Amino acid sequence: MAKPLANRSIVITGSGRGIGAEVAKLVGSLGANVVVNDPGVNLDGSGGDAGPAQSVANEIIAAGGSAVANLDSIATEEGGENLIRQCLDTWGRVDGVVHVAGILRDRMIFNMAESEWDEVIAVHLTGFFNVVKPASIIMRQQRYGRIVGFSSSSGLMGNAGQGNYGAAKAGIAGGVRCLARDLGRYGITSNGIAPTAGTRMTQSIPEAAQQLRAAAPTAAPKAEDVEPQYPAASFVAPMVAYLMTDQAWNVNGKIFHVAGGQVSLALEETAAASIHKASMWTVDELRALVPSRLMSGVINPAPPPPTLDLPGRPVAASA
Ligand SMILES: NC(=O)c1ccc[n+]([C@@H]2O[C@H](COP(=O)([O-])OP(=O)(O)OC[C@H]3O[C@@H](n4cnc5c(N)ncnc54)[C@H](O)[C@@H]3O)[C@@H](O)[C@H]2O)c1
Repeated sequence: MAKPLANRSIVITGSGRGIGAEVAKLVGSLGANVVVNDPGVNLDGSGGDAGPAQSVANEIIAAGGSAVANLDSIATEEGGENLIRQCLDTWGRVDGVVHVAGILRDRMIFNMAESEWDEVIAVHLTGFFNVVKPASIIMRQQRYGRIVGFSSSSGLMGNAGQGNYGAAKAGIAGGVRCLARDLGRYGITSNGIAPTAGTRMTQSIPEAAQQLRAAAPTAAPKAEDVEPQYPAASFVAPMVAYLMTDQAWNVNGKIFHVAGGQVSLALEETAAASIHKASMWTVDELRALVPSRLMSGVINPAPPPPTLDLPGRPVAASA
């Protein structure tokens, strides 16, 4: 088999389980030296277990590859630096960083504790900074690097009960696009993946929340319209591995949805409709124009029920 990642050294956060483990095993089989990072925490970030990271590293080695385990939490600056330093000390290079690590603390915003907000932001969004900052210093010196952040449809489109997670995942999408601008000139690419896969994370979604999310009106095609709702996590790995290859040198600042056999390039934020005038709009002008010129045909993802007596809503014509 061709080894397109031979002599590349790649760090993968959260790769003891789920999607990260599949990415680690695939890039290992394609010749990369892999740092399998995972403190083995529970889905909510509590606890810890050295087993998952070590067993994925052992699996890569048993298959003829090269890997080491790392148990640092990337939620701290020190953990991120240790992780990147381990890759550099072990193999002398850091060619790729894939930030897959994640936890969930789902809660409606009116019930959410500040700690639930902070801990989710710390692992996903600050964790992204904690690994890409030290890695980018080395990649810039190498004039070569590959960065992949994990976003989510929750951050790109929205999901009930995930204000903390969606904010972090939108932040990663924004970060990936900005890093592309910071680092492209040094031969470094920065891209994002918004996956759909059957893992303990998706298994944890309560039936009621799944129904609420499925019922939310949306204009965007849902992955489950074309694929089983939660395809195997291994389906996500090839696109990540592709982004690590030399051939992907000119793919930069993009987000890809990956769900089973479907890989989609996400739309970038552009104006869907505009109104313009040379001077400042008045509120009365906006009240008159926004509904017809900006919002016509636009779907509210969570409309209030018809039974709610809402000021401003036109009264439906009676039959
Ligand atoms: N599964 C999906 O359908 C789906 C959808 C959208 C986004 N995602 C994202 O994909 C990524 C992988 O999710 P998954 O479904 O494989 O979840 P998972 O729970 O199976 O794996 C996540 C791993 O991250 C590790 N982790 C948690 N905190 C960490 C920390 N501080 N430092 C290092 N590792 C840590 C966990 O121990 C776990 O092994 C996550 O970022 C998730 O938000 C997944």
